[in-house]
Amino acid sequence: QLVYRTHLGSLVRTAALVSKHIEHFSRFSPSPLSMKQFLDFGSTSACERTSFVFLRQELPVRLSNIMKEISLLPDRLLATPSVQLVETWYIQSLTEILDFLDKNPDDHRVLETFVEVLEGVRNRHNEVVPTMAQGVIEYKDAFGRQDAVTDHNIQYFMDRFYTSRISIRMLINQHSLVFNGNSNPAHPYTIGCIDSKCDVTEVVRDAYESAKLLCEQYYLGAPELELTQMNGEAQPQNTLSPLHGVYSLTHSLTHSFLNAMRATIETHEASRTLPPIRVLVALAEEDLSIKMSDRGGGVPFRKMERVFSYMYSTAPRPSMEHTHRAPLAGFGYGLPISRLYARYFQGDLQLYSMEGFGTDAVIHLKALSTDSVERLPVFNKTALRHYKLSLEADDWCVPSSEPLDLAVQRSAK
Ligand SMILES: Nc1ncnc2c1ncn2[C@@H]1O[C@H](COP(=O)(O)OP(=O)(O)OP(=O)(O)O)[C@@H](O)[C@H]1O
Ligand SMILES: *[C@@H]1O[C@H](CO)[C@@H](O)[C@H](O)[C@H]1NC(C)=O
Ligand SMILES: [Mg+2]
Repeated sequence: QLVYRTHLGSLVRTAALVSKHIEHFSRFSPSPLSMKQFLDFGSTSACERTSFVFLRQELPVRLSNIMKEISLLPDRLLATPSVQLVETWYIQSLTEILDFLDKNPDDHRVLETFVEVLEGVRNRHNEVVPTMAQGVIEYKDAFGRQDAVTDHNIQYFMDRFYTSRISIRMLINQHSLVFNGNSNPAHPYTIGCIDSKCDVTEVVRDAYESAKLLCEQYYLGAPELELTQMNGEAQPQNTLSPLHGVYSLTHSLTHSFLNAMRATIETHEASRTLPPIRVLVALAEEDLSIKMSDRGGGVPFRKMERVFSYMYSTAPRPSMEHTHRAPLAGFGYGLPISRLYARYFQGDLQLYSMEGFGTDAVIHLKALSTDSVERLPVFNKTALRHYKLSLEADDWCVPSSEPLDLAVQRSAK
């Protein structure tokens, strides 16, 4: 408690210092990069000086834009210890990066320190997602579930906040992997964290294997994988999207496999054989789509809206120590965050479920690296309006719990 309070004291002082910078940088819009730009930049022509000059401006812009939105959260959520902690991380990181604004980009030591600072920033923010999730739990414990407007605002914020985080980590990873001085001999086509010669079916198999490993530890078995690839007639030429290999796809796929495995095993506990998980990969001119079908009993239609919500979680609460966390059920952020990874490069993740049978999870991505452009939140009046939005009263009838007796009605007329 005491530690926390002194923390807050220094936070307030630092906040006053940086708030001027936040005002300044949040007036700029972030500059979205395409996958092609990430690749071209990371390849032969890589220039550390250019990247440094770009990042010392772009990172404060992205940080400040999202920090403006943090301050618009409902006061009672903002005041939870967990959200306060996350805010101190953002302020600390912004301050550290702003330090480089007046440094000489031609000085090698400056560039070296910059990489170190970026890695420090990335590590500081490792636990942002579970900490925010904890904040939501603290808030719900203290105040119960709120009205629809608050729920809507929190959902709107979290989607933007986590997208911003994904993008900032992407920039940091690219810079630090390309310029930390080590090439990666095992993966000659890997540029930063992007694999430029990525084979989709291989990524699917890798994601399946890592999910299977976790699943077997927990359930002592896992459903098989049946993988089919369909290539459209007109395939893109060598501009094929590199799939941000390590990044979005693996994340979304592994999480989807875990969901499918858990559902399959839990609905087939009694039977001796598990129905396989079927994956269909379709690559064509514009889209790369991956459909994963399980026979895990599905989700009732009424509950479909909730599976992407940050306010609901069907899983047991996470303990903050990782060792005790059940591998297949975290804090219920698997789907919403996987969807953000897919949307980050202009794709999407959709879920179709039939209760009693199973679920199809479909991931759509852009096939071309020129089409894969970062989708980034920007803070301006339009965003502000979303937080001020007040939903009007419902304009659809609520069915009465006791059906009208039509005979009585008629005679009364
Ligand atoms: N393939 C599926 N079949 C049946 N139910 C599913 C499937 N995928 C998701 N669900 C339901 O949706 C809920 C939310 O899924 P989500 O992946 O977001 O969270 P989680 O799996 O509970 O936890 P986490 O993924 O964070 O470890 C699950 O708890 C589960 O009830
Ligand atoms: C906010 O930014 C978006 C994207 O740049 C733009 O389309 C929108 O018009 C802006 N809104 C205002 C009110 O400036
Ligand atoms: Mg999950």
